[in-house]
Amino acid sequence: MPHMLNPTIYAQRRARLLQTMQRGVAIIPTAPEVARNADTHYAYRHDSNFYYLTGFTEPEAVLVLVASPREGGRTKSILFCREKNLEREIWDGHRVGPDAAKDQFGFDETYSIAQLDEKLAELIGNQSTLFYPLGDDAGWDQRILKLRSAVQEKIRSGIRAPDEIRDVRAQLNEMRLFKDVHELNIMRRAAEISTTAHRRAMRFTRPDQFEYQVEAELLHEFCSHGARHPAYTSIVAGGANACVLHYVGNNAKLRDGDLLLIDAGCELDGYASDITRTFPVNGKFSAAQKDVYEIVLAAQAAAIAAALPNQNWDAPHDAALRVLAQGFIDLKLCQGSVDAVLENESYKKFYMHRTGHWLGMDVHDVGDYKVDDKWRALQPGMVLTVEPGCYIRPADDVPIALWNIGIRIEDDVAITELGNEVLTIAAPKTVADIEELMRPS
Ligand code: GLY
Ligand code: MN
Ligand code: MN
Repeated sequence: MPHMLNPTIYAQRRARLLQTMQRGVAIIPTAPEVARNADTHYAYRHDSNFYYLTGFTEPEAVLVLVASPREGGRTKSILFCREKNLEREIWDGHRVGPDAAKDQFGFDETYSIAQLDEKLAELIGNQSTLFYPLGDDAGWDQRILKLRSAVQEKIRSGIRAPDEIRDVRAQLNEMRLFKDVHELNIMRRAAEISTTAHRRAMRFTRPDQFEYQVEAELLHEFCSHGARHPAYTSIVAGGANACVLHYVGNNAKLRDGDLLLIDAGCELDGYASDITRTFPVNGKFSAAQKDVYEIVLAAQAAAIAAALPNQNWDAPHDAALRVLAQGFIDLKLCQGSVDAVLENESYKKFYMHRTGHWLGMDVHDVGDYKVDDKWRALQPGMVLTVEPGCYIRPADDVPIALWNIGIRIEDDVAITELGNEVLTIAAPKTVADIEELMRPS
């Protein structure tokens, strides 16, 4: 079930942002609707920052926050949204409308979106600073500059335009990096749904099916638990396709003896999950597949063990790399010592991406990875993925038995006070657990 809206959570986040702004006006629009073709649109997805601060999911809406230290620290939280419209609501569905939105979502003031420019011209007059997602959308950049120029023209009436435009995301990204209890609960549930989808895919998969048939099983499981959309396009990659990192064709036939790599996660109530599992199409790992798999699994275990509070962001990647480098040497993919392989980066031929990213409303979520040029420390409330892999393309200097093996194992990990919580633990990943689940009953 989607969560019940609790306006207090969003009001508290707005209050925190206002506090960090100190002074000025923040303008945070939601995302536009996007045409797919002719008069058909992609499924609407709100802007993550806007949703974080409002809980409001309709298009054509803008949040405006006003911090006025001169008026005794008074702040105002204003929503501009679509008017009620009986005709449009018959065709497109319910609109909350400004009047109901004020109480339901806890804003100080609400107006029709049609009044935005006129009201903004009043609100930004004599304010020092404008905060908005600078450079995010060329149309909004132009609109904001035009608005500022219009206010500037009132200089002879004693009204000054803001001197400064700042990117509101500097503050917001840092807030979003630390998930609150409400967010962690949604992310746990999103992760849980995605683990059931991966289990379903493992049970369903057999030789001669098409990748898209397995994809259909994933989508079925997401949707039937209320997660209407995947958080990103699912990767369902059999055999050599697994060596294409962003493979989304999903239209090849699965072959007996190949591995299947699935990177798929649902979005629930605006929050992403992101899981990769790799398993044999016929339910049984070959000796060569198992050799590579165990190395990636051990690298992942080492990385998860390093994802601890006060460790730096790079510690899980470092831990995974050391295990992978030793494994690549054992498999005769790389030559020399572990230190040499890490130093000369010969491992990059088989492992060319990093070991994870922040996870939240966006699958590659916001938040700086370095602070003052140093990898930042992991802290409770941060959520990251841990996703080492190994992708072996055919080459003269690569043992033939390993050609076209592509493996990634990815879990979602929340940093806690004492260690970490693997949100996606219920998706099987040991050889024994996978083979057990896939065994015909
Ligand atoms: N599914 C996108 C990623 O793993 O980064
Ligand atoms: Mn990922
Ligand atoms: Mn992924």
